[in-house]
Amino acid sequence: MKEIPFVDLKAGFEPIKDEVMKAIGDVLDGMNLNIGPNCQAFEKEFASFCGARYAIGVGSGTEAIQFALLACGIKEGDEVITTPHTFFATVEAISCIGARPVFVDIDPLTYNINPADIEKKITKKTKAIIPVHMYGQTAGIDPILEISKQYGISVIEDACQAHGALYKGIKAGALGDAGCFSFYFTKNLGTYGEGGIVITNNEKTAEFIRLYRNHGHKSKYEHAVIGYNGRLDEIQAAILRIRLKYLNEYNSKRRERAEIYNSFLKDTPLELPVEAKGRMHVYHLYVVRSQRRDELQKYLSKNGIGTGIHYKNPAHLQEAVAVFGYRKGDFPETEKACSEILSLPMYPELKEEYQVYISEKIKEFFRS
Ligand SMILES: Cc1ncc(COP(=O)(O)O)c(C=O)c1O
Repeated sequence: MKEIPFVDLKAGFEPIKDEVMKAIGDVLDGMNLNIGPNCQAFEKEFASFCGARYAIGVGSGTEAIQFALLACGIKEGDEVITTPHTFFATVEAISCIGARPVFVDIDPLTYNINPADIEKKITKKTKAIIPVHMYGQTAGIDPILEISKQYGISVIEDACQAHGALYKGIKAGALGDAGCFSFYFTKNLGTYGEGGIVITNNEKTAEFIRLYRNHGHKSKYEHAVIGYNGRLDEIQAAILRIRLKYLNEYNSKRRERAEIYNSFLKDTPLELPVEAKGRMHVYHLYVVRSQRRDELQKYLSKNGIGTGIHYKNPAHLQEAVAVFGYRKGDFPETEKACSEILSLPMYPELKEEYQVYISEKIKEFFRS
């Protein structure tokens, strides 16, 4: 029996090990650790990669969203529209600043927020929309930008799963007022610890986040605003500079792996991922759907295949946000998806022979 992990971080590390070890050594030799040369260089390199004017490194994707919300003026009592089908951090970032998450159900084909349902949720208190680019594919941004213009609402993209994804040729994160990324180690662009970044074309937003992430530090001994300790670590920035050079290659490999799965699995009862028109999916996750999901997951596990569920419980039903009063049945597409989705192994180094084995086991399961 083969053992196929859901992700293989060691396989990704091996080819760049020498470069990474040297970069870490150089950081430690320089001891310039607080928003040092690597952090500053990476910010420029990532902004240029995304086609944005500014990028500000922070401590995590969660901080990126929280700081972007604050920079856009969102405060206690405001409402922020987002999707219940996301990693919980999106909702945490909204709630942490005292705002209320207002959910809109997903489009079941792309798993992203359904733009057609947004307008009915807008009230006088709505101050921002956070579309989450789930699994590596951007949400349908044009209608969201229309709504934002019409109502004067900020659009903050949660691009934590979509490094390098495109919407009509524009990079994820560079479509709205601010774009937020996570560099958690499993992401398409991940580091070997924690990290995040906000990109924006707005100088004031950039300035605010630059101050805020560093205790409001304007100059030595001068604090202009009450901020936070939310900096991007210099060693992580040095690693990110290396991995950014390979991001296009990593994403191409993920797309190739997705095509292989698509061709092997097309005749099974599984629903396969859909790449919507005008978008380039970067397959942070390759997510299939089946009403027999739990049985299938067990069968694959018994055969040595690691899988994941992203995510099993929708955000609106989490105990942590019970205070907002959402109920089962409020977002039927999200709830249905959560009970049927399964993430198959997906990483740039995934071997084709593994994909053959995984596909065979899936076919075997449906025959049984
Ligand atoms: C959609 C989404 N939003 C936010 C985050 C939070 O990022 P971090 O874990 O870096 O705080 C993640 C990371 O898992 C994510 O997938």
